[in-house]
Amino acid sequence: MKSILEFSAAHAARRPIVMTTAYDALLARHAARAGIDAVLVGDSVAMVVHGFPSTVHATMEMMVAHTAAVRRGAPDLVVVADLPFLAHRRGREAAVAAAGALVQAGATAVKLEGVAGHEDVIAHLVGSGIPVMGHLGLTPQSVHQLGGYRLQGRSADEAEAIRADARRAAALGVFALVLECVPAALAAAITAELPVPAIGIGAGAETAGQVLVISDLLGLDPDFRPRFVRRYADGAGVVQEALERYARDVRAAHFPAAAEVLA
Ligand code: KIV
Repeated sequence: MKSILEFSAAHAARRPIVMTTAYDALLARHAARAGIDAVLVGDSVAMVVHGFPSTVHATMEMMVAHTAAVRRGAPDLVVVADLPFLAHRRGREAAVAAAGALVQAGATAVKLEGVAGHEDVIAHLVGSGIPVMGHLGLTPQSVHQLGGYRLQGRSADEAEAIRADARRAAALGVFALVLECVPAALAAAITAELPVPAIGIGAGAETAGQVLVISDLLGLDPDFRPRFVRRYADGAGVVQEALERYARDVRAAHFPAAAEVLA
């Protein structure tokens, strides 16, 4: 997809929207070549690339650098960039500055977590011409308040609160919404009533699209296996084996061979 207008077109045509995260130019290029609809420069970059224990460690500096790299790798694709921890909670001016920096780095749109308490910011960003994607359910930037990474919206009250937030986000003008780790029935109900596409991660099969973290779908971390992730490759095995063969070849003086030596 080249623009966010294609999100609504896909939604209207009931064509599932395919998203993955990307953090660098190389994998963004692979995503574009594979026909992925849009890439998310998630604040999960803090965990996946920088090795932090949670997304609260993502900074604007990180998000800008990775957004620019992804844009260089996928010049024609919709690129959504996360507003990092608290960037949309410091008032309108700060939120506009942060979102503006991400757009200038190459983002087509920004994503922000939650609705309550920053409705004015969402409306102001949208009114300023910056497309906004919402994010509800498990909102990882609130991991300490949520008490860990767990399914959200299990009780009737919690489910109704998420549903009401989704309606509010749509009314404020978000062009799409990520629903993370909520019961499939809740995600299906929200998807059915929302005028904009709900993109699920750990939210069942009836959302308008799916998003996965790229290192998860490539199987790059053998120790991280949540049930909602399908591994499409044994990335860890492939990388490990290649590195071991390389080390063996160098130690046995099998690399470089004659054909690999520059004359
Ligand atoms: O940062 C991220 O990777 C995300 C996805 C989990 C949707 O927000």
